[in-house]
Amino acid sequence: MNRPARARIDLRALQHNFRRVQQAAPHSKIIAIVKAHAYGHGMVRVVQALPDADAFGVACMEEAVTLREAGCDRRIVLLEGLFSPADIMLINGYRLDVVIHSLHQVEMLEQGSLSRPLDIWLKIDTGMHRLGFRPADAAAIAERLRCIPQVATLRFMTHFACADDLACDMTAAQIRRFNATPGADAAERSLANSAGVLGWPDAHCEWVRPGIMLYGSSPLAGQRAAALDLRPVMTLSTELIAVNARSKGDTVGYGGDWVCPRDMLIGVAAIGYGDGYPRHAASGMPVRVNGKPAALAGRVSMDMLCIDLGDQPDARIGDEVVLWGAGLPVDEVAAQAGTISYELLCGVGSRVQFDYVS
Ligand SMILES: Cc1ncc(COP(=O)(O)O)c(C=O)c1O
Repeated sequence: MNRPARARIDLRALQHNFRRVQQAAPHSKIIAIVKAHAYGHGMVRVVQALPDADAFGVACMEEAVTLREAGCDRRIVLLEGLFSPADIMLINGYRLDVVIHSLHQVEMLEQGSLSRPLDIWLKIDTGMHRLGFRPADAAAIAERLRCIPQVATLRFMTHFACADDLACDMTAAQIRRFNATPGADAAERSLANSAGVLGWPDAHCEWVRPGIMLYGSSPLAGQRAAALDLRPVMTLSTELIAVNARSKGDTVGYGGDWVCPRDMLIGVAAIGYGDGYPRHAASGMPVRVNGKPAALAGRVSMDMLCIDLGDQPDARIGDEVVLWGAGLPVDEVAAQAGTISYELLCGVGSRVQFDYVS
């Protein structure tokens, strides 16, 4: 691809962040969460770069099959379990672990026939109120599952709603409810997402499930990734394809709502919302041109965005523009765009050229 929009994926930073998980939860096994193309980073490349992960977490069958067919021989957990009875043959054939969160899934499992029993993760709803069984129902469901030949091992898991906020009572309450769930103490358990890994040691147990921290974004509200010793994995960049002198009072971009405050240089960078850069990013959003701070000027277009080069009179066509990553934390961009790093990272589009550095 000649277009300069690029995502540089630093696999050494990924491995460093994985070691941070190991340091923070040294007694837990690690399910590296790689759903949604490993949060936009490229699922197969990420999995290949994490040889010490005990398992990988995915959202759907297609992701699991892609990993197996790429040669991944480790445990793969389908985090939303099966969607239809047809999934059972694939789960069997591809040797997948399955989260079971509903009676509907229990029934599908009971009716399926398998050549080998499955490892099941019973999902308990301890307060997120999205998926899972009520703690009071867990023992009966576990008993029902243990009675069928389709089930080999039963593990218990839950998911946190507010673990990013260390001051919020909800996570401690979820941990208490989980620990009090009949049967959970006799099984292997998994509670902690990235925020649980770094912020809630009581939640580590036998298995942790980090996602966003692997990719170098902070899982804890108000704490910078660098302060948590997390390194950015993706650097999204492009180049200036035009540098134009504009006069005071000229408007820039669609809607004409950004007005040059003085005679100035405006750079045009080859990246836009068609590549996953947020269209609602406002003028003033930080970018870096040649490693120096600059700012978005006017509305983001599909394939381009304009930059106030006021402080960079020497800027030229071909100069590098960094949208987030090394030198510009994705968390900062996400906060200013009114979203979260997860959405920005997952949204990087297929027109962007991915370069892997190991
Ligand atoms: C069930 C489950 N576990 C773990 C994770 C990882 O969460 P995080 O990326 O916040 O670490 C996710 C992500 O959404 C999830 O859905």
